[in-house]
Amino acid sequence: MNQEQSQGGGELLKLPQSTQYQSHSELETLLTEERALLLKALAVPEAALTDSFVEDIRIRFNGKKSPLQDFLKSLRVLPPEDRKNAGGKINELKLFIESTLTAFLGAYQTAKEERDLQAEREDLTLPLPTLERGSRHPIAAVSNLLCESFRRMGYSVIDGPELEMEYYNFELLNIPAEHSAREMQDTFFLASEWVLRTQTSNVQAHAMLERKVPLKVVCPGYVYRPEHDVTHVPCFRQFECLVIDKGIHLGHLRHTLDSFFQEVFGRPVKTRWRSSYFPFVEPGAEIDVQCQQCFGDGCRSCKGTGWLEMGGCGLVHRDVLRKCGVDPDVYSGFAFGMGIDRLAMNKFAVSDLRALYEGDVPFLKDFGL
Ligand code: FA5
Repeated sequence: MNQEQSQGGGELLKLPQSTQYQSHSELETLLTEERALLLKALAVPEAALTDSFVEDIRIRFNGKKSPLQDFLKSLRVLPPEDRKNAGGKINELKLFIESTLTAFLGAYQTAKEERDLQAEREDLTLPLPTLERGSRHPIAAVSNLLCESFRRMGYSVIDGPELEMEYYNFELLNIPAEHSAREMQDTFFLASEWVLRTQTSNVQAHAMLERKVPLKVVCPGYVYRPEHDVTHVPCFRQFECLVIDKGIHLGHLRHTLDSFFQEVFGRPVKTRWRSSYFPFVEPGAEIDVQCQQCFGDGCRSCKGTGWLEMGGCGLVHRDVLRKCGVDPDVYSGFAFGMGIDRLAMNKFAVSDLRALYEGDVPFLKDFGL
């Protein structure tokens, strides 16, 4: 409160010299004066009001030591015949003070909030703070690189459902219920017959059923498995490739994968093909790329083997072609599914795949993407 307000406020909040009365008419005069004083105190211009002055008004007129309390206490010593009349008058004052102060304090609070809001309103004409330039995430960078390069080679980049029916994720791919191959892919089950897809291979079935052969498609996308360690995360990305045409053979697959790794790593890297079983291809293989941390010596990332598994591949199984409406006597095809996260991990020599998911900006910026 500034000095002017405090002086003005002091005058307005002065207590009456006495609250003693000898007669009804003296009491009425005192009560009328108290009412008038309250109105006068509340007539202070809004701009001069402060929180502490408003609180002083409340204490002065309705506090424990206010004249109103004196009047109420005085009733106790009045003879019973006078008490009713005086009590009525004092109660009128009490109601008046309470309702007037409630209305006043409410209006003061609302006006104050409105003023605060106005003061807080942002000035949209001010120049924006300059935002630091971000960088591309290593996994996104690898995914984009692959999509661009396969587009250039005439492939269609397609999308597939992450929330998938078991039928597309397993059955059409030669993995019926109870087949031991389901155990190779830990699965998040949802409602009956629905899963979070465990592999982007589900798009193989969709593509063959929904598009015409010949086909050349790739599909990057999220897949889900309850796994978590140095080379496994529960939500990761795969890059699926499917080619169906007349006369497709292992040579096409081999050549495409050699180009694939050259594209990802930007230089020749050592690869290793291991014969493997995936029910939807025949023959099938798993492909490892030499660990780019230790270059074959063995380290924690590659679990001492010198190699990191990147994905699986093979020639599309005749039964899968048939189930998906493609005549296996006319057409053949190859497919592969690579882990994009693993590719990024190996390309950028990250020792723990989980580090790519921690959102550590300085670490991610180190890749200079
Ligand atoms: C498959 O998912 C097959 N669909 C691949 C395939 C496609 C085979 C087409 C034949 C024809 P696999 O379960 O091995 O296969 O997974 C493929 C790759 O995904 C792995 O080599 C690895 O690079 C990556 N991967 C698998 N699980 C995880 C995980 N939890 N976290 C990160 N990457 C993973």
